[in-house]
Amino acid sequence: MSTTRRQFLEGSLSAVGSLLASRERFSAMPRVPEAQRLSSFDPQVRKLLPTLSLEEKIGQMTQPDQMFLKSLDDIETYHLGSLLSGGDSDPKSGNDLKSWTDLYDRYQSRALQARRRIPLLYGIDAVHGHNNVVGATMFPQNVGLGATRSAELVEKAARVTAEEIRATGINWAFGPCVTVPQDVRWGRAYEGFSESPEVVRLLGAAAVKGLQGARLSDPLSVVACTKHFAGDGGTVFGTGLAQGRGSAHFPLDQGDTRLGDADFRRIHLPGYVTTVAAGVATIMPSYSSWNGVKCSASRVLMTEILKEEMGFQGFLISDYAAQKALPGNYKQQIETTINAGMDMVMVPDNYREFIQLLTELAREGRVPMSRIDDAVTRILRVKFAAGLMDPNRQLLADRSLHQTFGSPKHRAVARECVRQSLVVLKNDRGVLPLAKGRRIHVVGKNADDIGNQCGGWTIYWQGKSGEVTSGGTTILQGMRKAAGESQVSYSRDGSGAEGAAVAVIGELPYAEMRGDRENLNLPPEDVAVVDTLKRAGIPVVVILVSGRPLAIDDLLDKADAVVAAWLPGTEGDGVADVLFGQAKPVGKLSFTWPRASSTSFHLGDPGYETLFPFGHGLGY
Ligand code: BGC
Ligand code: BGC
Repeated sequence: MSTTRRQFLEGSLSAVGSLLASRERFSAMPRVPEAQRLSSFDPQVRKLLPTLSLEEKIGQMTQPDQMFLKSLDDIETYHLGSLLSGGDSDPKSGNDLKSWTDLYDRYQSRALQARRRIPLLYGIDAVHGHNNVVGATMFPQNVGLGATRSAELVEKAARVTAEEIRATGINWAFGPCVTVPQDVRWGRAYEGFSESPEVVRLLGAAAVKGLQGARLSDPLSVVACTKHFAGDGGTVFGTGLAQGRGSAHFPLDQGDTRLGDADFRRIHLPGYVTTVAAGVATIMPSYSSWNGVKCSASRVLMTEILKEEMGFQGFLISDYAAQKALPGNYKQQIETTINAGMDMVMVPDNYREFIQLLTELAREGRVPMSRIDDAVTRILRVKFAAGLMDPNRQLLADRSLHQTFGSPKHRAVARECVRQSLVVLKNDRGVLPLAKGRRIHVVGKNADDIGNQCGGWTIYWQGKSGEVTSGGTTILQGMRKAAGESQVSYSRDGSGAEGAAVAVIGELPYAEMRGDRENLNLPPEDVAVVDTLKRAGIPVVVILVSGRPLAIDDLLDKADAVVAAWLPGTEGDGVADVLFGQAKPVGKLSFTWPRASSTSFHLGDPGYETLFPFGHGLGY
């Protein structure tokens, strides 16, 4: 056994605790039932593969974003195996359920008319519900789900998400994100369930089960994708994207995770061990690096650890244009990533050039045919497992599912997630629950804004303030429904307060790259709002709508109660339920809450100071 291999096992051992005691038992750990293993489709794959030409194989490995498709016929001409809609890649005819369904059907029909008739896998970032589609049920972002600690609820939420995805015909979700963020200044911290690998491995596996269902071929299942493999949440501050170049300055995103084997495996891999065991069919390698090596160029990570040691039988889909960040010219970049183990490439734009170069690489022997065959075998396994190759299968969208899209029943599940995700940080003199029948004045920029409470990856790539979607309730609307219109007044700036005040403040939407921050300070506008209330001399409840802990040391002295609501999604009713005691608060911090005076916000650093510990959360 090589040193790295032994170290890997030791690292995994401590992470998966009693599950494993030796290398031998690693292969004996709970796995996908034999009959449902992806490799059980190898007999079918072995029949099909030799009949495919090199061009057809490479087409299977190519994933353009639909918005860069030069012509519909390119699906057949280039034998494309997959398409995606990245952030902001919406149907031209508008963002609504029908347009999305038509978009999917148009592409899939074209693939079905091709000589080969190998259906497309169509991928989308459904990371908190089918969040690119107006009218979908938007669940709390993972940071909120982490606070519920409920695998049962997370699985239910993912099941509803799968059903809403299927309503548009789409068959592949780029989730769940099983990142383990160690520094909440990272703009993707909210995409993670927790800073703790224990929570991530539990909830990650639950989400995979919900998305993929009991069987991948179930018409209500979608292919899941755990991401970003691996260590995306462990990057060192200052190593991020475009650091020092131009005006773009993202200190953490896509940076370098500098950790020895054992720590890397203990913190960042357990979410993959459990999701692979739960049968996840695809995994997305990260933009980030591990000890200076880009994950998408790492043979150690993609081939040795994931495929050989963990026994992952599905396929790897690259992150959006990740190959372009590797050293060398475009051809060398493709050579590096494919030889390291990448199976399908999210190109996403210049796919004709990509196909030409990969074909050349294969002809020149720089990418061995065995590697191409392995990649295509993995992709086809998933297509067989998902039922796409079944000639009797209805592959266009099942529009009868439109009836339950964004339905009250689905929203009830999201509302329950919201209720259980709220963490009460402080509650002096029993201000909470709020008494109905008493005047309540609601203030703050996040009180009546559904876009703000949904955060990034909602309709828009980076999210957006305002009425970005239809259905659901803002927090203010939820409170009015619960307490009665006349009891609840509102002013954004805090003026006119009487009775008791509820200030809903925090962050505005952001996503990858742009969400990175230097510090966690509250915006001056939010501080001013709370100061205004304080001067009015009435009880003040603060609701934080944010993707991460913020610097609230000063605020704690001014507010009687403080509740972290994270990014709850469309069901503001769930926040009102807890505020009025309709539901008891049960959420527990899945991230440590740092003090503003910390000189480092990276967990475990000497300069990190704790305000509220991991697991904190008051009841009534
Ligand atoms: C993100 C991924 C996402 C992909 C497709 C990338 O920029 O890092 O999380 O799945 O885009 O939209
Ligand atoms: C895509 C993201 C990508 C970003 C930056 C967006 O349109 O959806 O996935 O990372 O562009 O290039």
